[in-house]
Amino acid sequence: MKKRMMVTGADGFLGSRIAAYYEKKYEVIRAGRSDLNITDENAVAEFLREKTPAAVIHCAAISDVGTCENNPELSETVNLYGTVNLAKACKESGIKLLFMSSDQIYAGSRLERPNLETDQIPLINVYGRHKKQAEEKILEILPDGICLRLSWMYDFPVRGLKSSNNLLARLLKAMLQNQPICLPVHDYRGITWVQEVVKNIEPAMELPGGIYNFGSESTCSSYETGIQVLGLLAHNNDKRKLVLPNEDSFAGGIRNLAMDIGKLKSQGVDFPDTISGFEKCLENSPEYVMALLR
Ligand SMILES: NC(=O)c1ccc[n+]([C@@H]2O[C@H](COP(=O)([O-])OP(=O)(O)OC[C@H]3O[C@@H](n4cnc5c(N)ncnc54)[C@H](OP(=O)(O)O)[C@@H]3O)[C@@H](O)[C@H]2O)c1
Repeated sequence: MKKRMMVTGADGFLGSRIAAYYEKKYEVIRAGRSDLNITDENAVAEFLREKTPAAVIHCAAISDVGTCENNPELSETVNLYGTVNLAKACKESGIKLLFMSSDQIYAGSRLERPNLETDQIPLINVYGRHKKQAEEKILEILPDGICLRLSWMYDFPVRGLKSSNNLLARLLKAMLQNQPICLPVHDYRGITWVQEVVKNIEPAMELPGGIYNFGSESTCSSYETGIQVLGLLAHNNDKRKLVLPNEDSFAGGIRNLAMDIGKLKSQGVDFPDTISGFEKCLENSPEYVMALLR
């Protein structure tokens, strides 16, 4: 019999890809917002009692940093209390919980090296604060809960799956429309192909409880990464001028979201670095992208 895996946020960018990838091997219970509102504590407990999955992959969230900043109550209700509801229900029913956290916890980092899970970084945005509080509550309720700090992710647009305003999509659009995009020079971060996250979810279920940086490493700014990726995409020199430096954002000092994934690697789970991840992704380009690049 197949193991049961439940995915919250199953209509979202990440959740829809996780559900699609694992449905051959697992009995996937897709919990989109219309199936389960995670802010309803009783509904969450009842849903988990009834479905009895082996693991919950918790992807439901208010995932936009700006929306959380403008509506902190909504962020707290969904990203913190909704997550606590799931943690309590998982405890009651003996279910493993994997929580999708974020590198925005490091948004206040001025370190000149990639951030470690143990670094105490000032929390400077609402989204990062609620993700951090949710991690703490999970580990209080469920010491074997697994909190995965994800970086900015990208993918090709895939029919039937939610798209996002990700770096690859923005670069492809810039090439199609011949319209330059500006990327910040003071913003350091890893950027991860979502399929690498998806495929690492299964080994992540076996990790000891705790917090893990979970994405591609990088020492480059967003601007430097954009230039390098455009170099991989565009064979025509004119197109290579489509990434411009944005000197204004984060000009008061660097913003360092980059993550050290040594803890994860020590458990045998790995990611390619940011540029190798883009190379792997492009090797799998769908036909319409190949046509665009020719
Ligand atoms: N995408 C990234 O680059 C990135 C980076 C770091 C971390 N993350 C984290 O990874 C997870 C997945 O992100 P994503 O990009 O897939 O986000 P997404 O596309 O916005 O998906 C989140 C899903 O959660 C649903 N949702 C919102 N409120 C809900 C509620 N009260 N009850 C049930 N479902 C609710 C949303 O439904 P509606 O669409 O109807 O609102 C949406 O389908 C999130 O925890 C996010 O914070 C993402």
